[in-house]
Amino acid sequence: MNVGFYQFSPAYGDPEGNLRRLAAALRSAAVDLLVCPELCTTGYLFLDRDELNAVAERIPDGPTCKALGALCREIGRSIVFGIAERAGDGLFNSAVLLTPDGGAVCYRKAHLFDTELNVFDRPGSSPRMGIVKGAKVGIMVCFDWRFPEVARALALEGADVIAHPANLVHPYCQDAMVTRSLENRVFSVTANRTGVEETGGLRTAFTGRSQIVSPMGARLAQADPDEECVRTAILNPAEARDKGVTARNDLFRDRRPDLYGPALGGDRRSKG
Ligand code: ACM
Repeated sequence: MNVGFYQFSPAYGDPEGNLRRLAAALRSAAVDLLVCPELCTTGYLFLDRDELNAVAERIPDGPTCKALGALCREIGRSIVFGIAERAGDGLFNSAVLLTPDGGAVCYRKAHLFDTELNVFDRPGSSPRMGIVKGAKVGIMVCFDWRFPEVARALALEGADVIAHPANLVHPYCQDAMVTRSLENRVFSVTANRTGVEETGGLRTAFTGRSQIVSPMGARLAQADPDEECVRTAILNPAEARDKGVTARNDLFRDRRPDLYGPALGGDRRSKG
């Protein structure tokens, strides 16, 4: 299975222009699955819900999903990308997996970051797993990386590959995702964006360095902080299904949930 990421700097408030760039990247990349950044149809820094609502789209029948879904069917490729989703009165920071069979899986980011809390709704649970070429692809979005339970839950649900659209502003995630891959024995594809957004006195710079990581924690591909590029790697999903650590140790069988207490439930400080 050939996977890739598309790292670029989406234009703020220009879904049509960003769609053209996503479609061109998907056409030119020789991949089964292309992972693209968080909110890459719209840009990131919304001052208020009206601004966000003006560019949010319905899933799967909004213009971006329709156009990219048709392209996936035409060229037999799959894509995961971040998108501002409108569902009824709700606005969500979502990521969609579109597959050549017409499938659409929409995951809503569980852990909202900083100014996102001003404009996006906090979702309940949403689908987060799809199939690409027989491999199970689990989805998480950017700041979800700070909560190791997210990657663990995806791995326990059988994910071979974690698709991770991101708009990272801190420099730690890329190294942390090496650990997320290693501790769960899964591939991960972090597609981060580049560039800077400034609006209403706010300024956010994004850190690039998108990467593909193996279940043994090896970086199979990585971008520079500022370049626009597609990078790819060939993955064997079977490597992610072998959870053996030694002849006597298995990553999942050896778990001791009976000892993990609050890590498995809501503790007093979680918002429930
Ligand atoms: C982030 O979650 N966009 C930092």
